[in-house]
Amino acid sequence: MRAFAVWSFGEAPALHDLPVPAAGGAFLLRVAYAGVNPLDNNNLARLTANSAYPYVLGIDFAGVVERVPAGGSDLHAGDRVFGMARTHGAYAEYTAVTPGARSEPLARIPGGVTDEQAAALPTAAVTALRTVDLLGVAAGQRLVVMGATGGVGGYAVQMALSRGAHVIATVRGDADEARRLGAKEVYDTAAVEVVSALRAAHPDGVDAVLDLVSGPDAIRGDAEFIKPGGRLVSTIFAADEGWFAGRQITARNSASNANPLLSPQGLTEVASMLADGTITARIRSTADLADAGQVLAKLRNGGLRGKAVIRL
Ligand SMILES: NC(=O)c1ccc[n+]([C@@H]2O[C@H](COP(=O)([O-])OP(=O)(O)OC[C@H]3O[C@@H](n4cnc5c(N)ncnc54)[C@H](OP(=O)(O)O)[C@@H]3O)[C@@H](O)[C@H]2O)c1
Repeated sequence: MRAFAVWSFGEAPALHDLPVPAAGGAFLLRVAYAGVNPLDNNNLARLTANSAYPYVLGIDFAGVVERVPAGGSDLHAGDRVFGMARTHGAYAEYTAVTPGARSEPLARIPGGVTDEQAAALPTAAVTALRTVDLLGVAAGQRLVVMGATGGVGGYAVQMALSRGAHVIATVRGDADEARRLGAKEVYDTAAVEVVSALRAAHPDGVDAVLDLVSGPDAIRGDAEFIKPGGRLVSTIFAADEGWFAGRQITARNSASNANPLLSPQGLTEVASMLADGTITARIRSTADLADAGQVLAKLRNGGLRGKAVIRL
């Protein structure tokens, strides 16, 4: 089968012909589309001489059940499914997923959702839902989403709007896209100094901030426009929770491996949101497997402004 993989430590990822996974006790899945996330670049950068090779890139996918593991399942061969293939990797014609593994959820794709859309959901949409939950986003609250036009941010903005929140977006050079998403206020880091602008616009402070982009130093600036008793979530482990607590702000670092929505139920919930129109997938790039390297570079270098998927 064709796979986009690193053959051995130190080599660049490339197209390789690999054996179809011997699924054994796992589901064997024929991949229709793989979803692309910053995590794919991060995992590539973290490879060491001790990693398992060949290393197939990617986690998120949508496709069809080819073989069900012994012991049975409520999924059957031929079912359309989507999920996360953390162990085997997803940028390949086939992948394997261990049933019940916490980090490898698998769920049916509901009617009305295409394979392409489903592949754009798992990591980003489930993270968006978790963070919106952690922030307790509710009607009338003012939520700032920093990095609002990216994969997680785009879903989070739409979910928060559906709860009736007043959504304030920060973006890098793409204010129109944030307005199209429905953000009521948009601050472009390319045009304004965002912390001062937000402090001036909200002197009493906002209720909550989802910060998808600020590092450990920059994120302290968020304290300047969050009200006392307000909440902050970082998806990149940038928040010093004790430092924010000293400023009457409840800060949380949302860890993907501690996300209870990484489950068939969590996947089904975000797919239902797509089916009922609460969210759209915002796919900005659909590339062939041979072009996976270019898609990853685009995500790394910026300017994608939505989701990318790879067509198998
Ligand atoms: N902990 C978890 O569970 C978890 C799960 C998923 C993702 N993550 C992490 O969360 C982060 C966001 O993920 P994602 O999938 O949304 O990434 P993404 O698709 O790359 O989106 C990030 C967005 O933020 C924009 N941006 C960059 N710097 C900015 C700034 N200073 N102000 C405003 N906007 C800025 C980017 O613009 P450009 O296009 O110009 O770069 C891009 O639109 C990534 O670091 C990812 O690794 C964590």
